[in-house]
Amino acid sequence: MRIGVLTGGGDCPGLNAVIRAVTRAAISKGGQVFGFKDGFKGMIENRYIALDHDSVSGILIRGGTILGTTNRDNPMRFEQIVNGQKIYCDMSEVIKKNYDSLGLEALVVIGGDGTMRMSKEIAEKTGINIVGVPKTIDNDIVGTDITFGFSSAVDIAAQALDRLHSTAESHHRVMLLEVMGRDAGWIALHAGIAGGADIILIPEIPYTIEGIIKTVTDRIKRDKHFSLIIVAEGVKTPEGKAIIKDILKTDIDLVKLGGISNYLARTIENESKIECRATILGHLQRGGSPNSFDRVYCTQLGVKAVQLIEEGKFQEMVAMVNGSLTSVPLSEVKGVKLVDPEGPLVQTARQIGISFGDG
Ligand code: F6P
Repeated sequence: MRIGVLTGGGDCPGLNAVIRAVTRAAISKGGQVFGFKDGFKGMIENRYIALDHDSVSGILIRGGTILGTTNRDNPMRFEQIVNGQKIYCDMSEVIKKNYDSLGLEALVVIGGDGTMRMSKEIAEKTGINIVGVPKTIDNDIVGTDITFGFSSAVDIAAQALDRLHSTAESHHRVMLLEVMGRDAGWIALHAGIAGGADIILIPEIPYTIEGIIKTVTDRIKRDKHFSLIIVAEGVKTPEGKAIIKDILKTDIDLVKLGGISNYLARTIENESKIECRATILGHLQRGGSPNSFDRVYCTQLGVKAVQLIEEGKFQEMVAMVNGSLTSVPLSEVKGVKLVDPEGPLVQTARQIGISFGDG
């Protein structure tokens, strides 16, 4: 068994734990593992390292990825400079050539929804055998109940709420915590419940400023002179305008969300005259050590990926479905998995009086 492994897209806690599990499981079956640097970019440029027991020793608890990653490159529209001119080329055949020259039998691709989509396309174009492993703190990949990295990010966001709690209470303020998640509200929903938020704002549930202020003032009437609000970065203004931190200019413009908490703090303060502060948690959610859930889950996912290769089951993504470890075809991994506004966790939150800003 000769297999390649790479990490693509934004980093998150647990990438190294998966690399370790894949390497150790493959070696225990007499296999050899090669790690490509910086995602598909490194595979195109044929930059790789051999992975063995020594190279994955001690990495279970390390954040980031020892292989490096990028969320900028698309191997089917890969930027190159020819005669001083920027052009975009389909590099799938180069990927196939480098895969063949190492005599690989399969490639384990650890990545988010974008990386899974690219993997499917590359597999279709070249016939390379791919097994995907779903990562992202956003938990928005279709086909799996949970992505690794999510649980660790929720822990960090919940701890941030715990810390904001004391200042909110001491200063009688409304404190807003903005968390990542792109268009999905999973981190805000879970961390909001775990951290005792009074209001959870997620892109999937429309809110009003009046709805937020009503919850805050109702609390004041109950002698609770502070409120904690957790808001997902993908939440729009009540008029439907997305708040964007940046647009990265590539062949496709990459929109970077961020700043809705500042907008809300200003608006709530202006309209209610209650002091508000906003904190944007940012990349703190993606860094550092995976929690124990993610360490176990990543190990299961890595071992399962190697098991699929042994069984010759390719163009699949390992997944957790209804609590069981399984796999789903890469062709079914499309779209974005959003929070169901009527789902059980939203209902649970509502039943203990958490507001979603919708009155
Ligand atoms: O997809 C993971 C994620 O952290 C999102 O939650 C966030 O919007 C985005 O990546 C940030 O990307 P970057 O690291 O490029 O700023």
